[in-house]
Amino acid sequence: MRHKRRVSQEGQLKDETAYYSLIKVSLEADWQAYHGIRRRVLWELRGKSGYDSDFPDEYIIFNHPLLLKLAGRPIGTTRLDNYGQGRGIVRLVAISQPDQRQGHGRALFRLVEDYARSHFLNTLLVKAAPDAVEFYNKMGWITQEWDDSEYMSSGSDCVQMVKALVG
Ligand SMILES: CC(C)(COP(=O)(O)OP(=O)(O)OC[C@H]1O[C@@H](n2cnc3c(N)ncnc32)[C@H](O)[C@@H]1OP(=O)(O)O)[C@@H](O)C(=O)NCCC(=O)NCCS
Repeated sequence: MRHKRRVSQEGQLKDETAYYSLIKVSLEADWQAYHGIRRRVLWELRGKSGYDSDFPDEYIIFNHPLLLKLAGRPIGTTRLDNYGQGRGIVRLVAISQPDQRQGHGRALFRLVEDYARSHFLNTLLVKAAPDAVEFYNKMGWITQEWDDSEYMSSGSDCVQMVKALVG
């Protein structure tokens, strides 16, 4: 099915067929939803503690904290960081657990790619969790090392992947 997208008057990216919207987080309620999804999916469900919602990188001007909503309900997050030279890093991708494996991750990336293009990015980079590599493969990403230093500092279990944006 072809998904039409448009930019609303508020600057949100909307997917008209499924009522998805991707917003850059700014309202307090959206920050809470954003951190709540990440804390649960990427920390608690992975047996980790110490999630820091005040981590300075969230508030750097070149970084874009993004929240996916389905008919107004927050269901997913990522942060798109400008890495220079037309490249953006997709960080901390999460769909809330009850909503996983229903096509929402695919919808998130359709909108993130549109958002990236609208910010003049032509390549997306990710450090994928090993059990998410197949998901990225299905979204058209390829395994390719893009930064030795970042790779080393982030631990060896992440898989560096790349997607060129076309169109
Ligand atoms: C990984 C994640 C973002 C995918 O989102 P999702 O909504 O569950 O994925 P979708 O339902 O849109 O799946 C799209 C396709 O990828 C596949 N897929 C999704 N997650 C997968 C996984 N972990 N392993 C293998 N395939 C996967 C689906 O089967 C589907 O394939 P299909 O189109 O052939 O049917 C989500 O499951 C999640 O938040 N997982 C936990 C956190 C995580 O791993 N984040 C990534 C860190 S880099």
